[in-house]
Amino acid sequence: MQPVKIITTVKKMQEHSDLMIHQGKSIALIPTMGFLHEGHLSLMQEGSRHADHLVVSIFVNPTQFGQGEDLEAYPKDFNRDMDLCKKKGVDVIFKPDAPELYPENFQTYIALEKLPNHLCGLSRPVHFKGVATIVTKLFNIVKPDIAIFGQKDFQQLAVIKQMVSDLHMTVKVIGAPIIREADGLAMSSRNTCLSPEKRPAALSLFESLNNAKQLIKNGVTDSNIITKKARDIVKFHGDTEIDYISICDPETLEDVQNIKKPVLMAMAVKVGKTRLIDNMLLSP
Ligand code: PAF
Repeated sequence: MQPVKIITTVKKMQEHSDLMIHQGKSIALIPTMGFLHEGHLSLMQEGSRHADHLVVSIFVNPTQFGQGEDLEAYPKDFNRDMDLCKKKGVDVIFKPDAPELYPENFQTYIALEKLPNHLCGLSRPVHFKGVATIVTKLFNIVKPDIAIFGQKDFQQLAVIKQMVSDLHMTVKVIGAPIIREADGLAMSSRNTCLSPEKRPAALSLFESLNNAKQLIKNGVTDSNIITKKARDIVKFHGDTEIDYISICDPETLEDVQNIKKPVLMAMAVKVGKTRLIDNMLLSP
């Protein structure tokens, strides 16, 4: 196993990236909040396919968590993360602390006008401002040629692609497919917060999406019929609270009533205290 370099300051990371760029190496960045799982490992694999030098950032970004969200409870295990990164041939882990990225006088944020006004953005009003800001900062610090994000966070990926285009950033953003556990649950660091009794309720998200796929295949075009069925599937399980179930345009994320072209079905459900999201692209 090759050693992995751990960098904790902005200055050292920028210097390291400058050196790599000077040596003619291309850089791939996988931004994460740690507690890595198979989904992250697939992003790393994709990163190594596209670039010479692989950087994984691990930072639980406080600005993307609202009041009462799970910032403090967010799971952490740096030693395990480090072992996984070594196994995947990661060259650098960038692991700053919060004061390094948000010093006392910090006051500049990136906010998008439209994409955050849908799906997760409705119940998490500060979330995408926090995400866009931290991702911009990471791009400026790591200076990657490409950056890879999972499609499980579909809205996040859309926000980042839009921001990169709007601000003429040169980094190439790649979306990688959702990785699922054997029973279909979309991989997430938060899955470890689910007790075994909550598993069937957690699986109701994937079940609802598959059901929608089948309904559309059978010719159903009315979104209300499909989302109503999804609600019934989720509500069948106790201790679930639906945040949203939406059928929308994959580009604008605006609701679609009558399905005539490919749509995104996206949902967020709280199972016990754990908020889960999942999505699927569906074609009539
Ligand atoms: O998807 C995540 O893990 C985070 O939102 C990200 C992109 C690392 C920004 O903090």
